[in-house]
Amino acid sequence: MTAPQRIFLVGFSFTGKTEAGRLAAQRLGWAFVDTDHMIVARESKPIADIFAHDGEARFRELERQALTEAAARERVVISTGGGAVMDARNRQLMRSSGVVVCLEAQPETILARLRASERRASGPVRPLLAAPDPLQQIRSLKEQRQASYAAADWTAHTDNLTTGEVVGEILRGYEAGKRRFAPPATATPAHDGATCVVRTATEVCPIYVGWGALDDLGRRMRDAGLSGTAYVISDESVLARYGERALASLRGVGFTADSMAVPPGEPSKSLEMAGRIYDWLVAHRAERGHAIVALGGGVVGDLAGFVAATFLRGVPFVQAPTSLLAMVDASVGGKVAVNHREAKNSIGAFYQPRLVLADVSTLSTLPPRELTSGWAEVIKHGAILDAALFALFEEKADALKALEPRLAAEIIGRSVAIKARVASEDEKETTGLRTLLNYGHTIGHALEAATSYEGYLHGEAIAVGMVGAAIISQRMGLLTPDAVERLRKLLQRFGLPVAAPGVSRSAILHAMALDKKVEGKAIKWVVLEGIGRAAVRRDVPEADVMAALQALGVR
Ligand SMILES: NC(=O)c1ccc[n+]([C@@H]2O[C@H](COP(=O)([O-])OP(=O)(O)OC[C@H]3O[C@@H](n4cnc5c(N)ncnc54)[C@H](O)[C@@H]3O)[C@@H](O)[C@H]2O)c1
Repeated sequence: MTAPQRIFLVGFSFTGKTEAGRLAAQRLGWAFVDTDHMIVARESKPIADIFAHDGEARFRELERQALTEAAARERVVISTGGGAVMDARNRQLMRSSGVVVCLEAQPETILARLRASERRASGPVRPLLAAPDPLQQIRSLKEQRQASYAAADWTAHTDNLTTGEVVGEILRGYEAGKRRFAPPATATPAHDGATCVVRTATEVCPIYVGWGALDDLGRRMRDAGLSGTAYVISDESVLARYGERALASLRGVGFTADSMAVPPGEPSKSLEMAGRIYDWLVAHRAERGHAIVALGGGVVGDLAGFVAATFLRGVPFVQAPTSLLAMVDASVGGKVAVNHREAKNSIGAFYQPRLVLADVSTLSTLPPRELTSGWAEVIKHGAILDAALFALFEEKADALKALEPRLAAEIIGRSVAIKARVASEDEKETTGLRTLLNYGHTIGHALEAATSYEGYLHGEAIAVGMVGAAIISQRMGLLTPDAVERLRKLLQRFGLPVAAPGVSRSAILHAMALDKKVEGKAIKWVVLEGIGRAAVRRDVPEADVMAALQALGVR
């Protein structure tokens, strides 16, 4: 769909909609329409008289008619009355038929402009000035309308701008808002140098993986068409290490940037914490065009992504993962969520970031056990879909563990590309391809649950689960004993566990029965038919599962 050649100007009275709107139309060579003027001409009386004699409801009806007529025109800038946005039908009409630009001003500025205009004009005192406390009246009316104003594609703060500068803002807002109508292939500007791209039916998300990439955060965001204000959400430990670099990179290319940190750890992935971030964003007057940047591990990525997906019904979101798990898994594919106290990740959405930027050098400060745990997901990608990558792990394990810069960036990039391909082809887990990423997760999740999420980090549990699923595959005649051994050895070389001695078998079976991959009665198992070749099977014999658990030391 191409963008309609139509701009709607919304905002309080005396924010400059008529004057700047007329000039913007001139610059574009378009027509200019003011819905208030249309109504006055049609009714042959001033708006104050319509309010006084016919009532506000009648005025709103006339306003809706005028807006509908104006919106049928092409190549037009339409200035709307201050209260037009309060009607949901008007908002819907404007968003679907053009770009909406809001002109903002502080209540004090509005009052000063109102008084100046009153001095120039003759006639009855304007209703706002007739109120006992006009400033308070403006404040409270503005507050009522603020949420509707904030839903615009672009907001220009006009307090300290000349009319010419406001015109410039309107034209910039039009350029930015037009992207909402662009088809996916051209939705994002060029993403030169991207390691890979997630391409879904509606979104294109470039992913940059590199050693030292964090310093490019601002530039990459700008290249993705973002500008204005960026809110960096992080955890305390990551922000202390990398916050300054991220903020400097953003400010260096002209973003206004601010940051907020949550305590590190899974408990921060909660609705309560999301609520605190909403409060912070509201206090900072965050708007729809502003971006949220998640700087941190999967906890921060999931939490900040959930907030980005829901705040003002969705604001641009950027992932800057700093843990290995977040780089190769959590930041790619658009799943965002917070936990319910009864169930992990149960409140969430699919919400693609505008870009992902993974600075592999940040892994050098990741706690060693977290790094080791992350390698399990990287190895998993090779095991299920890329035999050559798996062989590369075997060959270069020591250099990789030591995070040799060039090699680590290359291999992590390849692993990310696998996740990106799967997420592109099966964004919402409907074709079955994305299910393959659950390799090792049936036993792995059960192991995490059976040990109350305290005994094993996620990647450690998945490593044990991968060995279990490989044993099942072997027993079903799908995988050679040699391949099972290769997997076990590789995981061990990366310091990952390959068995779970002493864990209760009944607790594992109970957790497996509750697992979300249970559909009807048959568990969807991901099995290996060779290294680099995974498949989904529902016909795994119970005896093979029991034998695998036995081999893992589960009693
Ligand atoms: N959305 C998805 O598709 C998806 C996929 C997998 C996992 N997840 C989620 O990801 C979360 C786990 O992610 P995680 O393992 O990154 O956990 P995490 O975010 O808790 O990070 C682990 C720890 O490492 C620290 N840390 C992160 N980067 C660091 C760095 N560079 N230097 C020093 N310390 C650093 C963090 O402060 C934290 O203490 C879980 O909540 C899980 O549900 C989501």
